[in-house]
Amino acid sequence: MALLEVRDLTVSFDTPDGVVHAVNGISFDLDPGETLGLVGESGSGKTQTALALIGLLAENGKVSGSVRFRGQELLGMSTSELSRVRGSKISMIFQDPISSLNPYMTIGDQLVEVLTHHRNLRRREARARAEEMLHQVHLNDPGQRMRQYPHELSGGMCQRVMIAMGLLCQPDLLIADEPTTALDVTVQSQINTLMGELSEQSSTAILLITHDLGVVAGLCHRVLVMYAGQEMEMAGVDDLFADPRHPYTEGLLNSVPRLDRARSGILNAIPGNPPNLLDVPAGCPFSSRCRYAFDRCRERPGFEALGEGRFKRCHLDALPAAREEVG
Ligand SMILES: Nc1ncnc2c1ncn2[C@@H]1O[C@H](COP(=O)(O)OP(=O)(O)OP(=O)(O)O)[C@@H](O)[C@H]1O
Ligand code: SF4
Ligand SMILES: [Mg+2]
Repeated sequence: MALLEVRDLTVSFDTPDGVVHAVNGISFDLDPGETLGLVGESGSGKTQTALALIGLLAENGKVSGSVRFRGQELLGMSTSELSRVRGSKISMIFQDPISSLNPYMTIGDQLVEVLTHHRNLRRREARARAEEMLHQVHLNDPGQRMRQYPHELSGGMCQRVMIAMGLLCQPDLLIADEPTTALDVTVQSQINTLMGELSEQSSTAILLITHDLGVVAGLCHRVLVMYAGQEMEMAGVDDLFADPRHPYTEGLLNSVPRLDRARSGILNAIPGNPPNLLDVPAGCPFSSRCRYAFDRCRERPGFEALGEGRFKRCHLDALPAAREEVG
């Protein structure tokens, strides 16, 4: 049994303008110790997928489908049951550290509370463990940081505190939403290494949401590419980079700046914009931007298994052949 089994997850929001279809039937599994990257342009539904998994959607959000964690259904669980699972077995690191930390408690007290509450550690042990964790996320002078309040720290430091908090309990599942975006490149790579080590040492599964395909290449075992709230492609990381099977994945990979392209000055961004989620087109959601679109793309393609753990949602028989034809 997989650690996490997500089936047909759907998230919509009631708004004055109509219903926003943010996530439209996503399914995936996550095994212990595995890191799955969730990628896609802004607005593709990555964050709402993550929030739906752990019952933290905004009030106007509705969720359906199934989310099983160690076989236990999370959707529809009571708030108190969910918060117990969330704190000890599932951690989430959000993009915005400032609003996720309690402004009225010192960093130390917040970290210690997590450990005394969820791990039954005594305060002294918890303080030592918390300080050690701050050291591991490369926060200088951890003893001093423990005594400070969030507003006394920079945004980057708060982000590292959030990461330390997420890793403290050695959760079974860590959901990290752009965890290092606010940090400078050197610290980003240190934190990514730390997450990789954690996942190896304690079999923590990681759902990593990121725009950075370099981080995906370095950290993830598998990748799920999302567009307009739907899965476009899922594959092992090496397969996806070497041989993308979906035109949207190809577009994302081509839009990554590379040294050989930088010289020519060409930035290969995917032309056009994602569809309006108030009115998602009936056929392939990518068709208005796809250079390979043909008649059949007016019908919605299924998420087809290609063997060897690969899936794609596209009517093309083979992308390389289509590429040659289009030129
Ligand atoms: N409370 C809400 N009410 C209405 N629409 C919402 C709400 N929360 C999110 N959305 C919409 O859901 C869609 C998916 O948002 P989501 O935050 O999951 O995108 P994302 O892939 O995480 O993007 P980014 O990379 O910019 O973080 C967006 O169109 C967003 O505007
Ligand atoms: S289904 Fe058609 S429009 Fe959609 S990605 Fe494939 S070729 Fe392009
Ligand atoms: Mg997001």
